[in-house]
Amino acid sequence: MTEQWQQDICRLTETGGLLQGTLSQLRRKDGDAAPKIIIRPVQLKNGLHYQFEAHFANKVIHNNWLPEDAGPKLVELLDEQYRQALLKTQEADIQLLLSKKGKPTLLRKPPTASAASTEQQHNRQKQRVIAEGQAAPFMVELGIMTPEGKVHAKKQDKFRQINRFLEMVTDVLPQLPQGKPLTIIDFGCGKSYLTFALYHLLAVEQNRDIRIIGLDLKADVITFCSELAHTLGYDKLSFMVGDIADYDGVSEADMVVTLHACDTATDAALAKAVGWGASVIMSVPCCQHELFKQVSSDALAPILSQGLLKERFAAIATDAARGTLLEVLGYKVQMLEFVDPEHTPKNLLIRAVRSESGTQVKKWEQYEQFRNFLQIAPSLEKLLAGRLPAN
Ligand SMILES: C[S@@+](CC[C@H](N)C(=O)[O-])C[C@H]1O[C@@H](n2cnc3c(N)ncnc32)[C@H](O)[C@@H]1O
Repeated sequence: MTEQWQQDICRLTETGGLLQGTLSQLRRKDGDAAPKIIIRPVQLKNGLHYQFEAHFANKVIHNNWLPEDAGPKLVELLDEQYRQALLKTQEADIQLLLSKKGKPTLLRKPPTASAASTEQQHNRQKQRVIAEGQAAPFMVELGIMTPEGKVHAKKQDKFRQINRFLEMVTDVLPQLPQGKPLTIIDFGCGKSYLTFALYHLLAVEQNRDIRIIGLDLKADVITFCSELAHTLGYDKLSFMVGDIADYDGVSEADMVVTLHACDTATDAALAKAVGWGASVIMSVPCCQHELFKQVSSDALAPILSQGLLKERFAAIATDAARGTLLEVLGYKVQMLEFVDPEHTPKNLLIRAVRSESGTQVKKWEQYEQFRNFLQIAPSLEKLLAGRLPAN
């Protein structure tokens, strides 16, 4: 028979009256349940849900429930796993204590949450994908945040960079295939800060079915990343030693990320992404030496005769060529400022989203003019030769 407190909880979630809930005091300390669950209302595309945020020692897992299912779920958790609940409503803070035999004690205190403040908190958190004050386990492990969620003073730039990257990813999430597991490859992953962030956003926060593979030439960083993924319990995040150009570990990928992969390693990554028909490409190029040696134009002598200007010009020309080649193949391309240029000159992000528009002949003509004028032979053109219109 359903008890009064159980009916009250179901009514609270069904009516949206529950503003925040916390479950604690595990009945069994030796089980695998999270020591604490925080419940809050979230407005998703398909309406109001309650998000159950389970806090484990080294990870946080989210599950979203419809209001009519959230109440029975909460009751089930209290019946089976937790002995204490703090339920905040607009009228009161209700503390529910359950004895070992399930006998309830209810304490009512004046309310400390209001619908407005809950909404504000939610909106504030929306401004940053990962909010300061809420410890993300991967950030703690990477030494960016304290276990209390405070960002270390020296890591503020990294924190901003991670959030900026996640914002840029969030914008294009609707362009990724829906209703199927996603494969994401990070080429030249290095220490993989942003890969861990991506996994946190998609697999932990959004509960998406994804796998991410990081590839790098360096065995030591791959060992470091593999161990960290294991510590965090990120079981769909794996790392491999290898060269981008030779990588054939997957037959398709939905998103390819390449952040500061050196020189033409970026081109190898872009060519792989195109070959797999990746829906989204996020690429921050780095150390672009190739065109520096090639670019030549009498008309541009005032630029090309100055080493520093030539270097910057060659880098811009490289990215312009890359972007245009992707456009030729039907990608919608945006050049975005990745982080404040004050922090690093390597701050251009190429974001490309695949469209169904097919080969763009006009773009190809533009590209040919550009390439001939500068007398360059970019790697990416060679790598994509079979897919591009004939010269
Ligand atoms: C500057 S680090 C960037 C690391 C990381 N993506 C980041 O943004 O913090 C460049 C990484 O790319 C890797 N790399 C360069 N060329 C590569 C290639 N051809 N195949 C695989 N990894 C490569 C390097 O070993 C290095 O770890």
